Amino acid sequence: MNRLTDWLSKRSYSKIIILTDDNSSENCLPLISKYVGKQYSHINILPGEHSKSLESAAFIWNKLLEFDADRSALLVNLGGGMITDLGGFCAATYKRGISFINIPTTLLGMVDAAVGGKTGIDIGNNKNQVGLFAPAEAVFTYSVFLRTLPHRELFAGFAEVMKYGLIYQKQLWDTLKLADPMHITDWESVIVSCVKIKEGIVKLDPMDKGLRKILNFGHTIGHAVESYSLENEHSPLLHGEAVALGMVVEAWLSFKKTRLAKNELDEISSHLIRIFGRKRYEKDIVDTLYSYMLNDKKNTTNAVRFALLECIGNAVYDVNCSFEEIAEALDYYLSLKAPNL
Ligand code: GLY
Repeated sequence: MNRLTDWLSKRSYSKIIILTDDNSSENCLPLISKYVGKQYSHINILPGEHSKSLESAAFIWNKLLEFDADRSALLVNLGGGMITDLGGFCAATYKRGISFINIPTTLLGMVDAAVGGKTGIDIGNNKNQVGLFAPAEAVFTYSVFLRTLPHRELFAGFAEVMKYGLIYQKQLWDTLKLADPMHITDWESVIVSCVKIKEGIVKLDPMDKGLRKILNFGHTIGHAVESYSLENEHSPLLHGEAVALGMVVEAWLSFKKTRLAKNELDEISSHLIRIFGRKRYEKDIVDTLYSYMLNDKKNTTNAVRFALLECIGNAVYDVNCSFEEIAEALDYYLSLKAPNL
């Protein structure tokens, strides 16, 4: 963590404000605070996706004003994807933009949300509807924070890790498909592999106009299921859990639409279901999911576009799928046998 102290000592910010939620405030702020120095202000919000809202953004902007943060202030986003998305959005818009850095504390944050400059908030239960591309000045990743994570969060982040293997690096998938996230000791190298893949893709397509869309594999269905779950379930799915489900459904769409081989579909489904389980939904959920998908900013009014696999390790984007195809893909998921956990 001395890297953070060094980095800060080479810059002169008028003020440092650390943004946390209850979890990162309790588990991670005590580990990081002495490396930031004594003089910082602290903003804390409630944990969970429901906090990625306009109300939270207004709360943070007001706090920044209260702390007299000027244009030379630095916001330090210490937390998971919700905190880095929301904090990045608030920093990028406050006084037309102040600097921010991300210190992700979840696996999902480390391999995805904190990297690549996407910031934003949800509107109601529709994910990431308002936001902007704004790169963090720096991202500091400390795998030691993973020790503070509940197991459920670690598994959810592992879904995003597996996604990188499926869309870009078969070798990574081959290694990870047999791994148990609870027994991985060298997280550092797993995170480095994923971040290198993401940075390489973002460099080629920072504004998400082309290649970057392959990062959405599993997310078109995943975001819709996540929104549904946020609206209807007492204990909503985590983002990564919804993406794990989405990757199985979208692997079936890949089999149908982009020539993914049947043996690879079977391999993907069996490993993802074994690791992440199989969620139970009624078949008629597809109507609600479809309306969420049409709201998704990546889709045009009447077509739902997917990033799909041609084979393990290679993805394509902007593949239109019909309502019937999506319904059939969801049937496939629901027909799979739940693992004996
Ligand atoms: N999370 C997908 C992206 O950053 O493009």
